[in-house]
Amino acid sequence: MAGAEAVLRKLSVMGRKAVEKLRVEKKYRVALLDRQIRGSRTKREARLLARAKQAGVLCPVVYEVGEFFIRMKFLEGKMLHHELGKRKITRREIKEAAGILARLHSAGIVHGDYTPANLMLTKEGMAVIDFGLGSISNDCEDKATDVVTMKKALGGMAGSRFVAEYLAASKNRRVVELVAEIERRARYMERG
Ligand SMILES: Nc1ncnc2c1ncn2[C@@H]1O[C@H](COP(=O)(O)OP(=O)(O)O)[C@@H](O)[C@H]1O
Ligand SMILES: [Mg+2]
Repeated sequence: MAGAEAVLRKLSVMGRKAVEKLRVEKKYRVALLDRQIRGSRTKREARLLARAKQAGVLCPVVYEVGEFFIRMKFLEGKMLHHELGKRKITRREIKEAAGILARLHSAGIVHGDYTPANLMLTKEGMAVIDFGLGSISNDCEDKATDVVTMKKALGGMAGSRFVAEYLAASKNRRVVELVAEIERRARYMERG
């Protein structure tokens, strides 16, 4: 379990299975700035995890926050993107993923990297992880970016269904209009 900017390891916190996400030093950054970035991202991720949980979204409970690490509950389950390497996403999973995003958004949480690589299938249901790029925002364009990210990741029919389910769950027409707008802009940029 190693990411680009964080190192993940399993450990035990008060006898419970936990994961530590440690943001490691980036040598290419000036030391002081590097500490500030790692510190603020760590704090932000912990805050967003707590807020998401409060909003009723299934995500790891935070056990401990250090300057550069978060220790959180180890979720038992499978990563959705790993499963999708073997089979197609189900309609139920699409609906669940859309429902979670709508709920995050209505709590003013933008995930920032909403893809099947950050969704887990657990026996309690679908769970979200990795709020490291998230923010607290009620900006429709920020929210639309989350929708676009997942739509692209799923692709095709599944992607379109995801948007429809997001609209059904959020009732936020503006966000869905902006999804189309962002896609138009992207196509325009590609053409140059
Ligand atoms: N709470 C957790 N329980 C179980 N596995 C986790 C948990 N948090 C992270 N992981 C595992 O570690 C990987 C990387 O964690 P993530 O927070 O997505 O960091 P990154 O920023 O590196 O993508 C995940 O894809 C998942 O497999
Ligand atoms: Mg991730």
